[in-house]
Amino acid sequence: MEGMTDHAPIGTGNELPGKPTAASRTTLSTIMTAGDTNLLGTVHGGVVMKLVDDAAGAVAGRHSGGPAVTASMDEMVFLEPVRVGDLVHVHAQCNWTGRTSMEIGVRVMAERWNESTPAQQVGSAYLVFAAVDADGKPRTVPPVVPDSERNERRFKEAQIRRTHRLARRRAIKELRAQQPSED
Ligand SMILES: CC(C)(COP(=O)(O)OP(=O)(O)OC[C@H]1O[C@@H](n2cnc3c(N)ncnc32)[C@H](O)[C@@H]1OP(=O)(O)O)[C@@H](O)C(=O)NCCC(=O)NCCS
Repeated sequence: MEGMTDHAPIGTGNELPGKPTAASRTTLSTIMTAGDTNLLGTVHGGVVMKLVDDAAGAVAGRHSGGPAVTASMDEMVFLEPVRVGDLVHVHAQCNWTGRTSMEIGVRVMAERWNESTPAQQVGSAYLVFAAVDADGKPRTVPPVVPDSERNERRFKEAQIRRTHRLARRRAIKELRAQQPSED
């Protein structure tokens, strides 16, 4: 049973009213052309990554109600090649919010533009966006309110990724602090 859950991140100091996942979910659809190809003749991964960043950026802007910048992109997976003439749909939604950052989950689907075959998943990614003010400084974002059991699960999984990102950054920082300067 999918239902609304009263969900606000604990301990983030975030006082803004929550926004449901559905309020900012976005799909960006684009037809791939000859200018999008790599040397093999299939679509360049960087073209897909730009669409992913564009769609995720739209979600981050809609969720936070203003400008947001990409802080990181991880777990970008390319499952199948994308071909010229494919209609690519990039589905993006806000999975998780912190105080000033948001994790945006993206699923990339492709279908032949002139066939009625079902779209196939060709990739996925997770991006962290930070909402920023006019000076480029992080600003507080509304907590995302997962509006289904699936989005509840995504919220919890995003929290795990967040914990791992922070732990990895901290561990690398500590290791570097112990090393002699390389300059
Ligand atoms: C992202 C940016 C605003 C962060 O600024 P900062 O001064 O480091 O601020 P903070 O450390 O407070 O980070 C802000 C939030 O982003 C998160 N964040 C920052 N860097 C991150 C990273 N590499 N991975 C995941 N989250 C990150 C922080 O955890 C924090 O989240 P929270 O408030 O929800 O806890 C700043 O690094 C920036 O402007 N980067 C360039 C962004 C850009 O130009 N992107 C386009 C690339 S072409």
